[in-house]
Amino acid sequence: MTAALQTIALGKHFGALHVTRQVNLSLAAGARHALIGPNGAGKTTLINLITGALSPDEGQVLLGGRDVTALPQARRVKQGLARTYQINQLFSDLSVLENVAISIAERVGAAGNFWRRASANSHVIDEAVELLARLKLDAYALTPVRELPYGRQRLVEIAITLGQKPTVLLLDEPAAGVPSAESHIILDAIAALPEQIAVLIIEHDMDIVFRFAKFITVLASGGIIAQGTPEQIAGDAHVRAVYLGQGGDV
Ligand SMILES: Nc1ncnc2c1ncn2[C@@H]1O[C@H](COP(=O)(O)OP(=O)(O)OP(=O)(O)O)[C@@H](O)[C@H]1O
Ligand SMILES: [Mg+2]
Repeated sequence: MTAALQTIALGKHFGALHVTRQVNLSLAAGARHALIGPNGAGKTTLINLITGALSPDEGQVLLGGRDVTALPQARRVKQGLARTYQINQLFSDLSVLENVAISIAERVGAAGNFWRRASANSHVIDEAVELLARLKLDAYALTPVRELPYGRQRLVEIAITLGQKPTVLLLDEPAAGVPSAESHIILDAIAALPEQIAVLIIEHDMDIVFRFAKFITVLASGGIIAQGTPEQIAGDAHVRAVYLGQGGDV
């Protein structure tokens, strides 16, 4: 079966720093895949290479079997690749509904005249309202994003990516900065993601990783040091020494 997302021998240097080394990843449709590793391991860089925010020095990125390595970010989004950021990137003065509707309008090609012809875009609003209900954000629809508790702001980011109807979703620390009392909101939302989407999540919260992921890749110093099921990773002595023994408490 063709992978929804595949990287082949991906490599990247920042000057003398070899930050991505021969990374081979493969996610089937519907994958629940976590990327873990110490701070500075190169996790966000890998996501940036996959999305096209950075160009690799070596290797390829394939989406649904098609080589997209040379395509700009926007074209990859059109081909079904969506992401969230480690630090959120929302329009904080706009309402939750507006943030999500803009994403949908962009997808359906209504963005150019969205503000002038709101009445002609009722299908966009309908879809946004439905998405907010699905993520239990409906009570906040008209609230400016900056007034939301941080956990809910992070949910808005996920709603925006779903507005793009992705086949592959990359989540860079979706629970970062969220107080632990609120982190179950994020866990519930990612557990309820449409099952056909291939999801790659970067997360330091091992509770979230081990509950969500069916497969885990461990990155250290830019290279993959282990891949396997959560049970295999939790029992891997090398992984425990490099990462779980220090940061995570599995
Ligand atoms: N634009 C850049 N220029 C130079 N070095 C960079 C750049 N971006 C990242 N780095 C370096 O590359 C390495 C990997 O960074 P990256 O942000 O990918 O790590 P990470 O695994 O996401 O870490 P964290 O868990 O802290 O988010 C780090 O040493 C970082 O300082
Ligand atoms: Mg990072």
